[in-house]
Amino acid sequence: MKVGIIGGGTMGSGIAQVAATSGCTVKLYDTNQTALDKVEAALDKILSRLIEKGRIDSDEKNRIQSNINYVDNLKDLADSNLTIEAIIENIDIKKKVFSELESYVSDDCIIASNTSSLSIASIAASLKKPERCVGIHFFNPAPLMKLVEVIPAIQTSEEVLQKSIQTISDWKKVVAVAKDTPGFIVNRVARPFYGEALRIYEEGIADFATIDNAMKTIGKFRMGPFELMDFIGNDVNYVVTETVFTAFYFDPRYKPAFTQKRFAEAGYLGRKSGKGYYNYDKNGKRVIQ
Ligand code: NAI
Repeated sequence: MKVGIIGGGTMGSGIAQVAATSGCTVKLYDTNQTALDKVEAALDKILSRLIEKGRIDSDEKNRIQSNINYVDNLKDLADSNLTIEAIIENIDIKKKVFSELESYVSDDCIIASNTSSLSIASIAASLKKPERCVGIHFFNPAPLMKLVEVIPAIQTSEEVLQKSIQTISDWKKVVAVAKDTPGFIVNRVARPFYGEALRIYEEGIADFATIDNAMKTIGKFRMGPFELMDFIGNDVNYVVTETVFTAFYFDPRYKPAFTQKRFAEAGYLGRKSGKGYYNYDKNGKRVIQ
């Protein structure tokens, strides 16, 4: 199977690794050449670490790497059977890319979005053949997280839905089919996890570390809400909250917090920028002060 990935950031790079590991030929496209160079170097490190841990051998590493081509022109994705878009969470930009992409690919190519919260119906409406559009939502980090939400829009054909479910299952992921509603399943359930934690902080009840430690110790979460927001990226997470809040007609349950908005505006994005609710070194490792 030939897979085209659009966007070589946190998610696109992980999805490319998953598809290449499963034997697909992958073309990873990004407008930013530096991002592509970084992904290639990062994947080399990740696979070398897997060799050290005895999970793969060097032949497997070579096989995965040779399955991925890094491209800087959307037209290069023309021969894809499936494309998965993982660019910025902005409906207008996504629609523009989808409409251009459709002019290059064949009629039976599935065009999927990894959006966390946007309407798949709205993205599909940018296509001449909206029935080929579906949401395929991976979680971060894509190579490690088992669950993938598959979201049919009201326009999506049954054939496209079934092919998508089959492909994701072949990639050894667990599929949850979700309706096309804001935040789908996981991101909707997760909003109060972040939102209430931010409100507890804003009300002066406890600091970030105390809240995180409470949730890890008692709640048995692997990461506390502030650690997780830093991991996801405060820019990405804030936009998702704002989208869900707006899409639910300003239901106060999903109201975004100013703390997160200011952090995103200040560029305190979390691990990827070196500073968020906590500080990180250049390898993304937490610096304990
Ligand atoms: P990111 O900011 O890490 O990466 C986005 C990449 O897209 C960048 O490399 C950028 O250069 C590229 N890009 C931007 N505009 C482009 C265009 N027009 N054409 C081609 N490339 C373009 O973002 P991230 O975190 O990977 O998120 C991508 C999508 O995945 C978003 O829709 C987000 O909501 C979703 N998502 C994010 C998760 C996360 O934990 N970060 C989890 C699941 C979904």
